[in-house]
Amino acid sequence: MKEKLATRVRQLKPSATLAINAKAKALKAQGIDIINLSAGEPDFDTPEHIKEAAIKAIREGFTRYTPVAGIPELREAIATQIQKDYGLSYTPEEVVVSCGAKQALFNLAQALFEEGDEVLVLAPYWVSYPPIVELAGARPVIVPSEKENLFEPELSALERAITPKTKGLILNSPSNPTGQLYSQNFLKGVAELAKQHGFFIISDDIYDKLRFDGRGPENILTVAPELREQTIMVNGVSKTYAMTGWRIGWAVGPKDIIAAVSRIQGQSTSNATSIAQKAALEALCGPQDCIVEMREAFKRRATLLYQKLKEIPGLDLPKPQGTFYAFVDFSAYYGRQAPGGTTLEDSLTMCDYLLEEAKVATVPGIAFGDDRCLRISFANADEEIEKGVSRIGEALKKLA
Ligand SMILES: Cc1ncc(COP(=O)(O)O)c(C=O)c1O
Repeated sequence: MKEKLATRVRQLKPSATLAINAKAKALKAQGIDIINLSAGEPDFDTPEHIKEAAIKAIREGFTRYTPVAGIPELREAIATQIQKDYGLSYTPEEVVVSCGAKQALFNLAQALFEEGDEVLVLAPYWVSYPPIVELAGARPVIVPSEKENLFEPELSALERAITPKTKGLILNSPSNPTGQLYSQNFLKGVAELAKQHGFFIISDDIYDKLRFDGRGPENILTVAPELREQTIMVNGVSKTYAMTGWRIGWAVGPKDIIAAVSRIQGQSTSNATSIAQKAALEALCGPQDCIVEMREAFKRRATLLYQKLKEIPGLDLPKPQGTFYAFVDFSAYYGRQAPGGTTLEDSLTMCDYLLEEAKVATVPGIAFGDDRCLRISFANADEEIEKGVSRIGEALKKLA
């Protein structure tokens, strides 16, 4: 028999974040008292008025194929939102609606990158960026950063990573997993490099409404609007409106790139779900107070988690500036022994230990390109956060 699976699939790792979340949920289902601090989604329910819009769409029979790139009124609403948030002018033809920001990113990579290309990925990075680049045949080039610099890479390191093969760079601010924002200076520096070397920028703005500094959304185009022809913005309703299961995201950028993304989508999944598009339309056009409520809750929990973690000797982290994640350096405990005799030597063994001993689920930093850290999510009730951190502290005390 011939080799069953294609090479690209044999090399493909499953998403570590989805895997740990599934493991935590399975243990919980067995009745084990797990505190799940691994989740990559808001713990809030989708707001009622959004659900109602979807129910109305079903009742009215809005259950057929839609145009591949999305219903015109949603594409229009997204363009209007971009104008409001970033002060940038786009037409609906420059917007494509996909099945989540993840599919928008996947399709964009298929449209832009190929064999021989290099794509700059800033570590710590969202787990799916490297595989998405690799599935397009290109090579991710990882640029590291340090927590002391709030996980912002040195511009000089970024410049050194650029070669004639560099075709793109992916930005994510606020960032999953670090919860940090890139500074304006950094964004300006990246913009200069993009201009000089002509590569494309994918700006993943999925957490742009979840920044805690009270300032409006900001991305590479707000500091360098002249990069419009080589930048594509990606966003969606998942994180902003607690709509992860609805699977609506989008890409906004130059018309020819967006048309290419639509062609790819037209030969693979076609349109995003008709009903979910109506819900997303209501999310964008309806009352916006739900965003403020959720953001304020995340902001309060960020402080709570940060303060609690700082009480544990040896743990180190910058205070989250946005999202619902903290990226915490546990490496001071590496080399120590668990009661069973296992030596904790990296983020994977540390995560396993915390799940077994403390019954707390976190995500190993190695999945995000930094083995010193674990990602701890604060998309959870205050009491759960407090209990989770105190259990982590107790488990760490048991290490020899
Ligand atoms: C940085 C980042 N980009 C994109 C996504 C994908 O979001 P969606 O649910 O819209 O596919 C996520 C979800 O975890 C994310 O953290």
